[in-house]
Amino acid sequence: MIEVKNIEQIGILPSNKCDSFTQPYVWGSFIKPEPSVFEGIIKNKNPKRYFEFGTGCGVSVQIVKTVYPECECFSIDKDDFRTHRDGHSKQLGEIPEAHFWKGNTYTKRFPKSLFESFDIVLVDAGHWIADCANDTGRAMDLVKPGGLLMWHDVILGDTYGDVFEGEKYKNLKVSKSIEVAKYLKDSFPLTVTLIKGTTLAIMEVKE
Ligand SMILES: C[S@@+](CC[C@H](N)C(=O)[O-])C[C@H]1O[C@@H](n2cnc3c(N)ncnc32)[C@H](O)[C@@H]1O
Repeated sequence: MIEVKNIEQIGILPSNKCDSFTQPYVWGSFIKPEPSVFEGIIKNKNPKRYFEFGTGCGVSVQIVKTVYPECECFSIDKDDFRTHRDGHSKQLGEIPEAHFWKGNTYTKRFPKSLFESFDIVLVDAGHWIADCANDTGRAMDLVKPGGLLMWHDVILGDTYGDVFEGEKYKNLKVSKSIEVAKYLKDSFPLTVTLIKGTTLAIMEVKE
């Protein structure tokens, strides 16, 4: 189930420490204003450990490490994340210090010692319903009680213009593979909060 709230309602203050490498956006990653909202969420949660499904070029990990350099970050992608990063290396700069795993989220075996150990887990790998179901289930094992689960690319409408301001998004159709909202709306049995003006959804995991 999905409820929609704005950032004031959930008590998040946007933060802009990472503007130098998040603006202009890297396609496939966060679109303005998502980087500053994501940064605000990280600041609010003060994570000691962070896990991400779908490293991409590593922007989200880089934001977490910029805000909290002491946070231990783990991230998995079926591709070597450097291949996604190559085209953006000038904008993104140095690779953050993290456990970047190369592996498939369907088959990677996570050490039991990591279970219930993460303050924040971001689900942002495959975007078909089956991918979301697999990765969300696995994320539930990794997040600790009282931790935060997040999803990216949660889009309720048909076009990016339903979410983002600007001419270029107006008629930009959401690709078929963006089924994250459908999964959360129709199949996930708990209520998640979609942050208005972004495609980020969050859910506090109960103690
Ligand atoms: C939208 S991008 C992630 C963007 C990233 N979170 C960021 O901040 O830049 C999705 C990534 O998920 C990866 N991916 C898709 N399906 C996967 C799977 N089954 N296992 C591991 N990685 C997967 C893709 O290779 C791609 O790099």
